[in-house]
Amino acid sequence: MIKVVFLGFGNVNSHLLNALNKNTEISVIQVFNRNYIKLISSFEHIQFTDDISKIAEADIYIIGIPDDAISRFSESLAFQNKLVVHTSGGAAMKVLSSKNRRGIFYPLQTFSKHRKVDFKEIPICIEAENPNDLGLLRKLGETISENVVEISSEKRAKLHLAAVFVNNFVNHLYEIGSEILNEEDLPFDLLKPLIAETASKIKTLSPEEAQTGPAKRNDKKTIEKHLHLLTDSPHAKLYKLFTEQLNQKYGKEL
Ligand SMILES: NC(=O)c1ccc[n+]([C@@H]2O[C@H](COP(=O)([O-])OP(=O)(O)OC[C@H]3O[C@@H](n4cnc5c(N)ncnc54)[C@H](OP(=O)(O)O)[C@@H]3O)[C@@H](O)[C@H]2O)c1
Repeated sequence: MIKVVFLGFGNVNSHLLNALNKNTEISVIQVFNRNYIKLISSFEHIQFTDDISKIAEADIYIIGIPDDAISRFSESLAFQNKLVVHTSGGAAMKVLSSKNRRGIFYPLQTFSKHRKVDFKEIPICIEAENPNDLGLLRKLGETISENVVEISSEKRAKLHLAAVFVNNFVNHLYEIGSEILNEEDLPFDLLKPLIAETASKIKTLSPEEAQTGPAKRNDKKTIEKHLHLLTDSPHAKLYKLFTEQLNQKYGKEL
C-alpha cells in the first residue's frame, strides 16, 4: 500500500486524487490546503488539514500549487527526508527544498476543474534523486496510467515548451477564430467539426502530412484576401507570421 498526501488542491491534485483514490494499492490519507476546502462527499473519509504542522506521515507527498510558489512552500514543510514531488512541467526538480528527497510526478495533460479526464492515456513523467524513489513513483503512476516515462528536468522543460505550442497557443487560435466569427454573428459551433478532425487525424498522420491550406499551397490570391479582411486587426501580424513560416517550411515564395 502506497500512502499519499496531497499538498495543495487545485486542478491537478483534485484530478489526481480522483484517479488515485479508486485504486486499492493506494491510500490517500490526507489533503492539505492553506485555505479551508470542503472535500466532496465521496472523499469524506479523507482527512483534511489547513495546518502545515499537522501534515500526516506518508510515502509520497504531491505538491500541486503554482510553479512560482513551489520552492518556498517546500521549504516551509516541517518534516525531512520524505519523498516530496511536484506536478509541474516547467519547473525543475531542484526547485524543491533539498531537506526532503525530491521527485517529479508530471501528468502531461490540460486539466480544468469540471472536465473529466481518462488518466489511462495520460503520460506521467517521473524523475527522482534515487532509484528506490523512482521505482515508487513508477508504481504510483502505473496504477492510473499505461504510459509512465522517466524524463530529466532538462528534457521535461522542452516537453513543456512543446506542450505550450500544441495546447495553449492552439487554444488561443480558437479564441481568435471565435472572435472573427462573432464579428459576423456566426456561431463558433460551425468550426467544431474542423477542430475535431484536425486533432483526430494527427493520430495517424504526421503534422507535415496533415497540413493543408492557402499558406502551404502558396495560394497568393486567398492570402491577400485574408490580409485585406484583417486590415486594422491585431491578428494580421500573427496571420503573416504563420504564413511566412509555412512558406519557408514548404519551400514556396510568398
Ligand atoms: N492545470 C493544468 O492543466 C496543469 C497540467 C499539468 C501540470 N500542471 C502543474 O500542476 C501544478 C498545479 O497546477 P494547477 O493548475 O492544479 O494549479 P491551481 O489550480 O492554480 O492550484 C491552486 C492550488 O494552489 C494553492 N496555492 C496557490 N498559491 C499557493 C501558495 N503560495 N502556497 C501554497 N499553496 C498555494 C491553492 O491554495 P488556495 O486554495 O488556498 O488558494 C490551490 O490549492 C503547477 O505546478 C502546474 O504547472 C498544471
